Amino acid sequence: MSKLTITIDGPAGSGKSSVARRVAALLGYSYLDSGAMYRALALKALERKVALDDQARIEALAKETHIALKPPTPDLEAAGAKNRVFLDGKEVTREIRTAEVAQAASQLATVAAVRRVLVAEQQRAGAGGSVVMEGRDIGTVVFPNAELKIFLDASPEVRAERRWKEHQEKGDRMTVAEVFDEVIERDKRDRERKVSPLIRAADAVLVDNSAMGIEETARLIVLLASERQKEATASAGKKV
Ligand code: DC
Repeated sequence: MSKLTITIDGPAGSGKSSVARRVAALLGYSYLDSGAMYRALALKALERKVALDDQARIEALAKETHIALKPPTPDLEAAGAKNRVFLDGKEVTREIRTAEVAQAASQLATVAAVRRVLVAEQQRAGAGGSVVMEGRDIGTVVFPNAELKIFLDASPEVRAERRWKEHQEKGDRMTVAEVFDEVIERDKRDRERKVSPLIRAADAVLVDNSAMGIEETARLIVLLASERQKEATASAGKKV
């Protein structure tokens, strides 16, 4: 069996994390949330009051920071966490899930030097294959040779409502309109930045899951993965 690399890119609220985690569970693969790395670094910048547009200090911060992702404990998973996130050895799984950290992460992510540091980490983490990695540039920059690339999307209204529900569950008092504005602003920045913007890779399969649930979306991707698996096995057979 070949060890596929599966990339899932898409905008905020497209269901990437839940779907990617479920796909990884169904296939017995590991799951990596690259956005959590940008969020962890953003949390550190906010805590240290480093200006997000001070490129030199942000780059230095990225280089001296250690971020680790681990599978969640059953408790954390039940609370919605998909990865445990450690920032310089301290767990920040919950702290990185605020709207403020999300916006700061999106701002940091426009800095090319920050991306270089985090992309290298992501490539190391996923080097062995059998991995589902999700983010904004995974199929275009981090793993451009991945066997299966998905571009996951949903309507802005559906995406904002999903995010709003997540905030509600955590007790954050944001209105749907506030969450909608946050999601739209972040998407615009993520799509329009100069370095590694969010775009669909030419060979990515576009999946619009506005009217689909997590399980249905995950099973569709598993089906696509098994097709790719067969193709990979057949072409390996031809080479022998
Ligand atoms: O996936 P997320 O919403 O947790 O990501 C937070 C921010 O991090 C997102 O708005 C943009 C940035 N990001 C990125 O630029 N590239 C990635 N591969 C993942 C996230």
